Amino acid sequence: MAHLIVTGGSSGIGLEVARVYLAKGYRVTLMARRADLLKTARDELLTANPATPDAIFLVSVDVCNETEMRAAVIAAETEYGPCDVLVTSAGRVDPQFFDSQSSEVFDAQLAVNFFGTVYAVRAVLAGMKQRRSGRIMLISSGAALIGIPAYSAYCASKSALTGFAEALRLEAHGYGVSVSICYPPDTLTPQYEREISLRPPIAQVLMGTVRPWRPKTVAQLLVDGTERGKRQVHFGLTLKLLSCFSAFIKPVMFWRLARLTA
Ligand SMILES: NC(=O)c1ccc[n+]([C@@H]2O[C@H](COP(=O)([O-])OP(=O)(O)OC[C@H]3O[C@@H](n4cnc5c(N)ncnc54)[C@H](OP(=O)(O)O)[C@@H]3O)[C@@H](O)[C@H]2O)c1
Repeated sequence: MAHLIVTGGSSGIGLEVARVYLAKGYRVTLMARRADLLKTARDELLTANPATPDAIFLVSVDVCNETEMRAAVIAAETEYGPCDVLVTSAGRVDPQFFDSQSSEVFDAQLAVNFFGTVYAVRAVLAGMKQRRSGRIMLISSGAALIGIPAYSAYCASKSALTGFAEALRLEAHGYGVSVSICYPPDTLTPQYEREISLRPPIAQVLMGTVRPWRPKTVAQLLVDGTERGKRQVHFGLTLKLLSCFSAFIKPVMFWRLARLTA
């Protein structure tokens, strides 16, 4: 049986990704910090998939701690065998203007979103290359495609993943390992609900008032992209256009924002 490891698997998009892979017959390791939330997630998955009681392994781990992450992956691979698919969903966002945000909160976003992803990849990549087989999907954000006021740490951490994914994809080429990255839009999850209450109006102007996506839809598209080894996965025409034609679209958006806020 194939094995998925998903960081941030106890909630939101990560949890839905786990659900999709369970339905495909995978064994699934969920990683996150809070053990109680992991157990609740497992119960929820089992209610929907009663035939899979032995297919879900839980590891309580902080992705920011590389030693812990390595141990977590070793524990998961000991339980279910080599990791066939890694999806890095653990993330955080704390909207706040740069000069009001403490360095701790700024750095913590970089630590989870960027280094937490790097550590997870480092823990599985050598094995995948050796076996000449594996799929990696990094979850970035639409916020990686354009700078957003009050999101400096988040934008920086998520856009750093783009360069990381591109370089890694080229390095992994020829080893049977695909590296993909996706840029989800606003998605109805606990992270979004917390974020929206902190999002300042100027950020909302730039981001537009789009109805948040369902995590199930995002997860399904993301899994399809992972399985096809796509370089990038976008959600909806607007973000796809922004990605492809950013040099033309961004100046217009920034001009409009400047006029609206003058
Ligand atoms: N929701 C959106 O609108 C949206 C849009 C674009 C991109 N994204 C990205 O999609 C990913 C998933 O977001 P979501 O909305 O599904 O969030 P969520 O529902 O809040 O879930 C976040 C998950 O990450 C885990 N996590 C957070 N910090 C961690 C750490 N240091 N170590 C290990 N696990 C950690 C959380 O569990 P613990 O707290 O127990 O550790 C939880 O399982 C994130 O990378 C996010 O940035 C979300």
